[in-house]
Amino acid sequence: MGKLDNRVAIVTGAASGMGEAIARLFAAEGAKVLAVGRSTNKIHDVLGGVSNIETMARSVGEEGAAQAIIEQAATSFEGLDVLVNNAGAGGAGPTEHITDEDWRANFDLNIDAMFRLCREAIPHLRNSAAGRIINIGSAMSMMGGPGMGAYAASKHAVVGLSRTLACELGADGITVNTLIPGAIHTQMTQGIFDNDQDMVDHWAQKAPLGRWGTPDDIAPPALFLASDDAGFITGTNLVVDGGAAVSP
Ligand SMILES: NC(=O)c1ccc[n+]([C@@H]2O[C@H](COP(=O)([O-])OP(=O)(O)OC[C@H]3O[C@@H](n4cnc5c(N)ncnc54)[C@H](O)[C@@H]3O)[C@@H](O)[C@H]2O)c1
Repeated sequence: MGKLDNRVAIVTGAASGMGEAIARLFAAEGAKVLAVGRSTNKIHDVLGGVSNIETMARSVGEEGAAQAIIEQAATSFEGLDVLVNNAGAGGAGPTEHITDEDWRANFDLNIDAMFRLCREAIPHLRNSAAGRIINIGSAMSMMGGPGMGAYAASKHAVVGLSRTLACELGADGITVNTLIPGAIHTQMTQGIFDNDQDMVDHWAQKAPLGRWGTPDDIAPPALFLASDDAGFITGTNLVVDGGAAVSP
């Protein structure tokens, strides 16, 4: 028995990092997973052929993408139970130098695409016995940092969207939560490991658990939120950061 037997899940940004780990774990726990990545080659190379996973190449920010992704899951697997909005990226430098274009790009990906996927998913989630939306925020959903203006603002917006949806969809039995990773070693943060040892040390030391996280630290909490175990949890932030947020 898997924790997600007979569930249909969508995971965006699934070609690497946390999205890949979440897609693999959900599939191993019995869910049928539509794993969405930007590039055809990459998503297929990484997850093609994995049992219970269907891959789809689509940029979540493109016009019409949200509808196409939700319809693909609903058609391939006949329904939708869990939406994991994981695709994200960011950082645009000091606020006084952020261009309108860079600001827009952060919001297009981190919140606008998420909003559209949630909107299109709602009618399908209403037909589920255990509808779930899991939006991936960031430590920057709760704090700021130098050079993080566009990213932090867009990730704060993720919390506002999740909390609002939780209020709107509770009557339908749909839960909506924000999973907040701390500093996690992935493709997104590889540049820090390559170029900024002080920053690597800073985040390791800030966490009482004394290290950066890995995608495998994030996938089980995502599974928890998706599973029946979290049926009475909605509108909350699940912070998975080794304690960094509570440490001076
Ligand atoms: N790594 C960290 O320290 C950290 C911390 C907090 C939050 N996050 C968030 O976690 C999520 C996953 O990031 P990660 O660290 O696993 O990095 P990652 O770069 O490995 O994963 C992000 C994935 O999103 C995909 N993506 C980007 N734009 C896309 C688009 N337009 N359409 C579809 N897919 C797209 C990328 O191709 C990539 O596969 C992101 O939302 C990120 O903001 C990361």
